[in-house]
Amino acid sequence: MSFDYKVRDLSLAEAGRHQIRLAEHEMPGLMALREEFGAQQPLKGARIAGSLHMTVQTAVLIETLTALGADVRWASCNIFSTQDEAAAAIVVGKGTPEDPQGVPVFAWKGESLPEYWWCTEQILSWPGQDGPNMILDDGGDATLLVHKGVEFEAAGAVPATDENDSAEYRVILDVLRASLEKDPQRFTKMAAGILGVTEETTTGVHRLYEFAQTGDLLFPAINVNDSVTKSKFDNKYGTRHSLIDGINRATDTLMGGKVAVVLGYGDVGKGCAESLRGQGARVVITEIDPICALQAAMDGFQVTTLEDVVETADIFITATGNKDIITAADMARMKHQAIVGNIGHFDNEIDMAGLERDTTIEKVEIKPQVHEWRFADGHSVIVLSEGRLLNLGNATGHPSFVMSNSFANQTIAQIELFTKNDDYAKQVYVLPKILDEKVARLHLDALGVKLTQLSKDQAEYIGVDVAGPYKPEHYRY
Ligand code: NAI
Repeated sequence: MSFDYKVRDLSLAEAGRHQIRLAEHEMPGLMALREEFGAQQPLKGARIAGSLHMTVQTAVLIETLTALGADVRWASCNIFSTQDEAAAAIVVGKGTPEDPQGVPVFAWKGESLPEYWWCTEQILSWPGQDGPNMILDDGGDATLLVHKGVEFEAAGAVPATDENDSAEYRVILDVLRASLEKDPQRFTKMAAGILGVTEETTTGVHRLYEFAQTGDLLFPAINVNDSVTKSKFDNKYGTRHSLIDGINRATDTLMGGKVAVVLGYGDVGKGCAESLRGQGARVVITEIDPICALQAAMDGFQVTTLEDVVETADIFITATGNKDIITAADMARMKHQAIVGNIGHFDNEIDMAGLERDTTIEKVEIKPQVHEWRFADGHSVIVLSEGRLLNLGNATGHPSFVMSNSFANQTIAQIELFTKNDDYAKQVYVLPKILDEKVARLHLDALGVKLTQLSKDQAEYIGVDVAGPYKPEHYRY
């Protein structure tokens, strides 16, 4: 069997396979779905283009999708987040590095932006087909490429770049321009065959609702992020683990006694704040939403503006999913060797472009994904992962057990959209609560949790079914 792929080094496959084997034990949700659906093969005929951090945990997801019958092509959704050994193991599969027999992966740690978008394009290119018939996305880049492709094909041309366009958007336009020249209907034909997308994260979901609101969404979408067993677990308990892992591996700085600012107190901000407090840091929160600000205050954190602490704090972590949160001018005022990192999906939370534009600021590489930016007055700040999500750039992202919850939702959402496609319009849906509860249930035994059994009488009294769902849709957990 021969197939196309591009990863760092296939000789890393054995190391990757060992880690995948250990991760499988920590991912009971995914393994239970293999058990439940393996014989049935519900994803037979699915051609899934996956764009999601190519980590060890994602490797277990990929092999779950293929165990359920899917054909898969995979890229990472971030230039720094690939674990090269996991990528190698997935390509090698049951074969050897000399004779790989696994899944086409296009991902390596430290891609350039043109390489990143080339990889994204590869997962949409299916030999002998117009494209995938399913997308599994994290942050929406694969979905974006298809939507922009269709938009420009309808217009007959890709717009000229504008001086305000980011470097990344210019790369996307270049990719689409080349594609349009080769086949002016490529993305239009591809989109017609796509049954749907399942989206992993807050930022990608935000894009999907925008497409749906303007009537531009080209296929049905399941918002996996807003399954309770995703955003209230991965975003919170996942970051609680991986934020400080990233800071430690990058800087090895002692966090106890330091002042750490978490910008944004949503699900991710809550996990970050808790972990920094656990290290003994004095944590300060910034928020724009009065409800989240009040939550932070009642959780015992000082809530103030960046302006108040920019000159005195030691560590700054952005977790907003918004842009322009820390500017180059803010960094110019920070303490010497303040640490600045982002854990939100995109790199526009920290003004990296502003740092790069200013020729009086010098960039020194301490090690890959750790840079000191020296200002003309002699002070410097340490920026992690060039402003991209530091828990995946400087560490290995969330641990397996929490990702088993997220990826069980992904797998169920893929089965749902692929097998019951007629039930879904070009809108954004969340999974039914009963499936959300099922995902949680799959993870209880491993933690020794004993669930109390609701009696029929009690169930009637609170107006639910004995078998669930146990909460109304508006319940917030
Ligand atoms: P969320 O919407 O729950 O929280 C974001 C919070 O930031 C909100 O409370 C919002 O009011 C606040 N905010 C917005 N603008 C702000 C500003 N200018 N200053 C201060 N606060 C501001 O979103 P969630 O789920 O916490 O996700 C945040 C980001 O993290 C998203 O980009 C998401 O995609 C990403 N994410 C990253 C993960 C990782 O492993 N690195 C895991 C999960 C999500």
